[in-house]
Amino acid sequence: MTISTIINVGIVGAGNIARGRHLPCFKKHPNVRLAAISDVVVDLAESAAKEYEIPGVYTDYRDMFEREKLDAVVICTPNKFHAPASIAALDAGLHVLCEKPMALDPVEARAMVAAAERNGKILSIAFHYRHMAPVRAARRVVDSGELGHVYMARVYALRRRGVPSWGTFVQKHIQGGGAMIDFGVHLLDTALWLMGNPQPIEVCASISQHLGKAPNVNPWGQWNYHEFTVEDQAAAFIRFANGASMLLECSWALNIPESHENISLSGTAAGLEVFPLKVNKAHLDMLVSWKPDWMPGERDNPGDVQTADFVGAILEGRQPVSQAYQALQVTEIVDAIYRSAAAGAAVRLDGAAEG
Ligand SMILES: NC(=O)c1ccc[n+]([C@@H]2O[C@H](COP(=O)([O-])OP(=O)(O)OC[C@H]3O[C@@H](n4cnc5c(N)ncnc54)[C@H](O)[C@@H]3O)[C@@H](O)[C@H]2O)c1
Repeated sequence: MTISTIINVGIVGAGNIARGRHLPCFKKHPNVRLAAISDVVVDLAESAAKEYEIPGVYTDYRDMFEREKLDAVVICTPNKFHAPASIAALDAGLHVLCEKPMALDPVEARAMVAAAERNGKILSIAFHYRHMAPVRAARRVVDSGELGHVYMARVYALRRRGVPSWGTFVQKHIQGGGAMIDFGVHLLDTALWLMGNPQPIEVCASISQHLGKAPNVNPWGQWNYHEFTVEDQAAAFIRFANGASMLLECSWALNIPESHENISLSGTAAGLEVFPLKVNKAHLDMLVSWKPDWMPGERDNPGDVQTADFVGAILEGRQPVSQAYQALQVTEIVDAIYRSAAAGAAVRLDGAAEG
């Protein structure tokens, strides 16, 4: 079925991710008209508007929501503004695709979910890893039952050196945290989604702030180490109500041989590595592995798939792949990681007494 409806989309925040992903992806979608853009720095909004032929330019997103006839917005601001901008958009009757992480903390995230529910609008979080071909294929393997019950996950989001040197990424009061809330969330969200979003019950974590506090080698340029108030590394052990566990480690900067991103799931019938996709099991008295020679969507840009999913959800009246209640769960785990690290003790998420 071809859907001919055009939706009017606005962009909030004209920085790195807006220019690198959302503007090009939404610009080329056949059912989208980029109608307006806002940034507190007017020059940024104006230059993006010129490049992408966007008629409306604003410095205050509230004015944009009020004056433009928008259907949806993409929130591309620093983390601190995700909740207020998303809630204002939802209350103005707009569908929202908000950049990750969802919010600074679970209180904000719950308010976002409530705003989506009271307005009957879509709220999706831009966890674009879910749209990568190996992740989509891994989800099909899990859904097929080939792994059996998944009881162990190992999740790595490790950069040897990859501290964001632009924007406000190293400032805790604006971003809510560092490597974990910024980078670890992608792999955490993906692993939880592959596991079927089991209910977390306990988190035990540590974080460190060693390499970020001083000048260091960084291919992305020198970050502002004077303002570095976040963690550069985090590690966590998470237990779930269905008996599964997860070991999670992430870093922006760590003295390791090389950067490494992967999710490894161990099930009762087989195990799976995501990057690259490989399934491991016992078969006819042998230990065997299989890997795909070809996967659907191998050449797709995950940003394009994400945009198509969000626009499709609006036009077809269905939920997007990345749903707000799942991002709320990610936010609760990230918050528990920070609380556990601060307390030096395990944190319960199921209301049971902490031991
Ligand atoms: N999905 C991904 O892989 C990915 C990658 C990079 C960034 N991000 C996320 O995107 C967000 C932005 O990151 P970035 O790299 O683009 O940062 P950035 O600093 O390059 O851009 C942020 C922009 O938002 C503008 N801004 C700040 N407050 C605003 C407000 N109240 N209204 C309108 N505009 C405002 C800033 O002026 C800036 O231009 C962050 O939440 C980050 O986590 C996601």
